[in-house]
Amino acid sequence: MLSAAVILALLAASSASAYSFERSLDSAFSGHLFRRDITDDLLNSTLWPAPAANGGKAWGKAFAKAKATVAKLTPEELFNLTVGLDGRCVGNTAPVPRFNIPEFCFGDGPAGVRAIQGVSQFPAELTTAATWDRDLMYRRNKAMGQEFYDQGVHIPLAPVTGGPLGRSPLEGRAWEGGFTDPYACGEASYQYVTALVDSGVASVAKHWVGYEQELYRNPHGLQTKNDTFPGGTQLPVSSNIDDKTMHEVYMWAFAEAVRAGTTHIMCSYNQINNTHSCSNAKSLNGLLKTELNFQGAIMSDWGAHWDTMLSMHNGLDMSMPGSQLDSLLGDFWGECVELINNGTVRIDVVREKVIRILTAYYHLGQDVKPLPDFVYAVTDFNSAGTSYVDEVVSYRNVRKPGTADLIKEIGTSSVTLLKNTGGLPLNKPQRVAVLGNDATDNIYGSSSCGATNSGCLLNGALNGTLTIGFGAGSGYAPYIVTPLDALKQRAIQDNTEIQAMVADSNSSFAESTISTIVPDADVTLVFVNRWYGKGIDALSLDLTGDADYLVAQAVNYSSNVVVVIHATGVVNIEKWVDNPNVTAIVAAYLPGQESGAGLVPVLYGDVSPSGKIPWTWGKSLDDYPPNGIVTDMVYAPQSNFTEGAFIDYRWFDKHNITPRYEFGYGLSYATFKYSKLTISKTHVKDTTSIMDTAEPFVGWDGSNSLYDVLFTASVKITNTGNYTGSEVAQLYISIPEEGQPIRVLRGFDKVKDIKPGETKTATFDIRRKDVSAWSVVDQHWYVPNGTFTIYVGASSRNLPLSTTWTP
Ligand code: NOJ
Repeated sequence: MLSAAVILALLAASSASAYSFERSLDSAFSGHLFRRDITDDLLNSTLWPAPAANGGKAWGKAFAKAKATVAKLTPEELFNLTVGLDGRCVGNTAPVPRFNIPEFCFGDGPAGVRAIQGVSQFPAELTTAATWDRDLMYRRNKAMGQEFYDQGVHIPLAPVTGGPLGRSPLEGRAWEGGFTDPYACGEASYQYVTALVDSGVASVAKHWVGYEQELYRNPHGLQTKNDTFPGGTQLPVSSNIDDKTMHEVYMWAFAEAVRAGTTHIMCSYNQINNTHSCSNAKSLNGLLKTELNFQGAIMSDWGAHWDTMLSMHNGLDMSMPGSQLDSLLGDFWGECVELINNGTVRIDVVREKVIRILTAYYHLGQDVKPLPDFVYAVTDFNSAGTSYVDEVVSYRNVRKPGTADLIKEIGTSSVTLLKNTGGLPLNKPQRVAVLGNDATDNIYGSSSCGATNSGCLLNGALNGTLTIGFGAGSGYAPYIVTPLDALKQRAIQDNTEIQAMVADSNSSFAESTISTIVPDADVTLVFVNRWYGKGIDALSLDLTGDADYLVAQAVNYSSNVVVVIHATGVVNIEKWVDNPNVTAIVAAYLPGQESGAGLVPVLYGDVSPSGKIPWTWGKSLDDYPPNGIVTDMVYAPQSNFTEGAFIDYRWFDKHNITPRYEFGYGLSYATFKYSKLTISKTHVKDTTSIMDTAEPFVGWDGSNSLYDVLFTASVKITNTGNYTGSEVAQLYISIPEEGQPIRVLRGFDKVKDIKPGETKTATFDIRRKDVSAWSVVDQHWYVPNGTFTIYVGASSRNLPLSTTWTP
C-alpha cells in the first residue's frame, strides 16, 4: 500500500501536468477504491432488469443455436466465455473444446489491426468522415474487416461510435471517431458496422457512453486482490447527461450501430450520472438492451469493470481483459463459478450473457468458417502501464491488392481545402520548396509515432509525417508514402525541382537556409501537424512543435505559401490564416499509410478537393462550450453536460459565434450552384434496419418504424466552374419545438464527378426519427406539430435553399 507521503508527492507532481498525474496514478496505484453506497445501484437493477435476448429480427437461427449450446455448458465453461484471460491478443477468452468454440481473440481497432505487422494502416475514422462518402466508409471497414479475419481476430474493437463524439475539441482521441454531429456519426457507424460484420468478424461499437475526456477516465489500476483505498485517488469522471441530451445526442449513433447489427458494444471508463458505465442498469439494461433492443453482448473496456454483483445484474456480459496483466485491470468475475455454486448468482443470469456471446459467434458464421490462429503475442502495455510490447511469433502478411488504392482514395477524397486565394492547384511549378518534418519519415521508423503506443517525441526529434494518432486507435504502418515521397515522384514525372528542408524540430530551421531556398521557389509547401491519442487530452489548440514559427519564416520569404495540416482535431491557425502570403490551406487529417499518394493529386489539380470538415473549426477554445474537459482534482470529478444538445455547430449557432470555418465547410476547384429543392412526401417503409430497435414513438402501431422514410428531398447541383468536382450537399432541419437547436444536420449526399456545366441530383431520405424530438416526460419520440424548415446547401452556414415541411 502507498504511504501518505507518496500520495502527497504524486498529488504535488500533478500540477506540472495532468497527464503525468494520470499516468503516475495508473502505474503507481494498484489498490481498490472505496466502494460507493450501492443501494441506489441495486434499486436500479430492479427498475431496469436485464431483458432476455431473443435473437431479434435477423439473428433468430443463431440465437436458437446459442441457446441450445448454452443449456449444456457447465459453470466453468460459461465463465470461460464471459471473463478474459491471458493470451496472445489484446483480449482473449478461453475455448470450450466440447462445442468447438475457439479461444476468442479481441484486437484494436479502429484504424487497422493494432499493433501487429503484415496489415494496412487505414485512414482514421476522422479522415474517412471528412470524405462524407458512405461508400468509402463501407469499403474501408470491409477491407479492414478482412485483415482482422485473416489475422485471426474474431472481435475487432471497432468502430468508435460517438464515444467520444467530440464534445470538447481538446478530447485526445476524438479522431478515433469522426463527426461531432450525432446524425452524421450515426450514418458512419452504420456503414462501419455492416462492413465489419459482412467480413465475418464482430463489430464492437464503443465507448458507451458519454466518454468525452481522457483525463480521469480511469485514474488508477484496479486489482481485486488489494481492497485498500489509496487516499487521494479518484473515481472515474462522471459524465452527467440529462435524458433528452442522452437520446438526441449521445445515444443516436449507437442506435444506428444496433440497427446495423453490431454484435458487441463496449461500455466506457467514465461513470454515467455517478454510476460506473459497466454497472449502470439504466444505460445497459434500460437504454441498450430494452430501448434499442440490442441482442448482442456488452463488454467492459479494459479496466472499466469495477464490481462483481452490480455489473452481473445490470447488463455487462463480458469482463475484459480479465486476468491479463496479473489482473491489474480487475477480474471481478474471475471466481464467479464459486458464486454460482454457492447460490449467490443464479446460473440463468450467466447463461443469458453467454447466449448473447454465442449468438454473435454463430451469426457471424465463425463456427462454420473458423478463423486462422492469431500468430502474434500482444501485450497492451507493460506492468508499469507505459509502453507497448508485441512479440512476433510468426509473420503473416494479409494485405490485399487494392487496399492501398482504397486508402489512397479515402485520403484524396478527404482532403479539405480551407483557404484558397490562388495557391492551389499548383500551377506547373518549376521549383517547389518543402518545409517541415511533417513532410517526411520519422527517424525511428514508420510506426514509431502511433502504432507502437509509445507516443511521439514532441520536440528535438524528427517525428515525421503524422498519419494516425497514437494509442488503441492506432494501426501499424507497413510503410508510409510521405508527402515528400509523392512530391518527388511528381517532380520526376514533371521534370521539375524539389528543395526540401526538414529538421529534427521545426524551430531549428535556420532562417539563413530558408532565406536562401524559399525565395527561389515558385511555391513553398509547409507541412505542420498536431498529434494526440488515448489517455491524453490536449492542453490547447496549438500546433505541435514550432509549426507557427515555420509558417512565419515561410511567409517572410515567399508570397506563395501553401500550408498542409495533419491533425487529430481543430488547431489554432489564427496567427497566419489571414496572411496574404498564405495562398492556400489544406486539412489532410490522419490519412494512413498512403498519405502523400492521396494528397499530391489534389495539390496538383488532378482531382478537385471534395472533403469537408466534420467539426466546427473555431478561432479559439473560448468559442466552444466551457468545461469541456473537467480538470478538478477531486475524489469524484463531475462533468456536467450543461450545454445539453448544443455542442459544436449547434453551440456556435445558438450563441452567434463566427467560426473560422463552419461545420461541413470545404472549398473545391470547381464552383457549384444549388437549385430546385423539392420534397416528395412518399412514405417508404424502413428497409435499412438489419435489427429492429424498440425505441418508442408516438403513432407506433406495430407495423411502422421510427426509421420509415417520411419524405425525400432532392436538389440540383450544377458545376459552374472549370474543373470536374464532387460536392457534399447537406440538409439541415429546424425542428419547431422549444429547446431544439437552430438547425440540425439530417442528411448528406456526396454527388461525385460533376463535370463543368453538368447538373446532377442530390437526394436525402428523411426518416421519422430525423424529424422527432425526445419527450422526457412521456419517454418517447414524437414529431412536433408545426412547420419544419428544411435547408440545403454546401455547409452548415452556406444554405442557399430552403423549403418547409409539415407533418
Ligand atoms: C482501452 C481503450 O479505451 C479501448 O478503446 C481499447 O479497445 C482497449 N483499451 C483495448 O486496447
